[in-house]
Amino acid sequence: MTASTSNTQHLDKLYKLLNDELDRAKSEKTYKYEVPLEGQQAGVVSVSGKNCVMLASNNYLGLSNHPEICEAARKGLNEYGFGLASVRFICGTQPLHRELEEQLADFLGTEDTILFNSCWAANEGFFNAMLSTDLGFKDYRDMIYSDQLNHASIIDGVRLCRIAVKTTDARAYKHNDIAQLTQWMEEDQAQNHRIKIIATDGVFSMEGDTGHLPELVKLAKKHNAMLYVDESHSTGVLGKTGRGTPEEQGVHGQIDVISGTLGKALGGAAGGFITGRRELVDFLRQKARPYTFSNTVPPFIVAASLKALEILKRDNSLVQKLHDNTDYFRTEIVKAGFTILPGVHPIVPVMLGEAAVAQDMSKELLDLGVYVRGLWYPVVPKGEARLRVQISAAHSREDLDRALEAFSKAGKKLGVIQ
Ligand SMILES: Cc1ncc(COP(=O)(O)O)c(C=O)c1O
Repeated sequence: MTASTSNTQHLDKLYKLLNDELDRAKSEKTYKYEVPLEGQQAGVVSVSGKNCVMLASNNYLGLSNHPEICEAARKGLNEYGFGLASVRFICGTQPLHRELEEQLADFLGTEDTILFNSCWAANEGFFNAMLSTDLGFKDYRDMIYSDQLNHASIIDGVRLCRIAVKTTDARAYKHNDIAQLTQWMEEDQAQNHRIKIIATDGVFSMEGDTGHLPELVKLAKKHNAMLYVDESHSTGVLGKTGRGTPEEQGVHGQIDVISGTLGKALGGAAGGFITGRRELVDFLRQKARPYTFSNTVPPFIVAASLKALEILKRDNSLVQKLHDNTDYFRTEIVKAGFTILPGVHPIVPVMLGEAAVAQDMSKELLDLGVYVRGLWYPVVPKGEARLRVQISAAHSREDLDRALEAFSKAGKKLGVIQ
């Protein structure tokens, strides 16, 4: 027995419980295995020495190993060092953090931006920060309306706020059910809530569908509510110039608050942000706990993210390629006989029904050189197991054809298609 295990013997019972839970997850096939990649994230990756078309990453624009981005990160490292070793109001702030904040605001049609270490941190910090100060009010209550399929970080952000801020109410409306939300907001009018927030994902990550932003903008205006949209899967992805769901739906510049990530289309490393009115951003710098109590985004990531934005603003060829690839894959996979959820987003859920079929398909596809992940209950409803395909501008037409051929082969073998 090693020293470390003998030192923790008093916790043996607890660790046995953890082990039992892990065994249960394995037997129920909900245990999350991590596949080792050899080398970089890209359109085609190496798994156990085999080249596989990567259909499971948020590397929508193929920027995660783009030479200009890697070079910008190296330059940032040389010029600004590895880290700042504290939070900005204590240890100081570097000019490139402000530059990225301004560039993001300019790109997304807002006044100012605040960087966080992740979009998770941004979403988790926002609600608590907004609703935890009395702002001179005496007796008041606040209300958050949240789509039932919002990302876990919004759900947790709302939960945390409700635990910490006793004056906050919350209602989760059925996914994209504007009629229900409208009815609730009418009903709640008599309660005179001080602050009302409608929170939605721009793009929902399990379905690849979009929030109905024009209707939400109208509803928010009518009820003096703040519209909060998480654009993690949309910035750099949707809209002709990659400005996201608001651009796609004709309401660019009309969203009160946008949160987003630097960890998907914009390079895929890490970092998040909230962008909106100047006063809001300044207020969050004072009040958002993940900003005031957690380290600054490392400068080399900021430098690389600035380059990602520059590439995106320079021309829209990568966005166009992503859209072309998405159209092609969506069309061809349906022609091959598969059922997908309709939409325009590079997240393409290929519906398979039972969890076992999704599991067998993803295993079969990996053998055929296609890396794609399955989702099943409890992540999605029972009987709606699926493979979540994610298309990238990094894919060539040959990569997509290879993937489509593998889908047909595996689908026929498992009796999913004829
Ligand atoms: C809709 C949405 N919001 C937030 C996040 C969290 O982003 P980050 O990785 O920057 O914390 C994700 C990541 O999966 C997401 O899909």
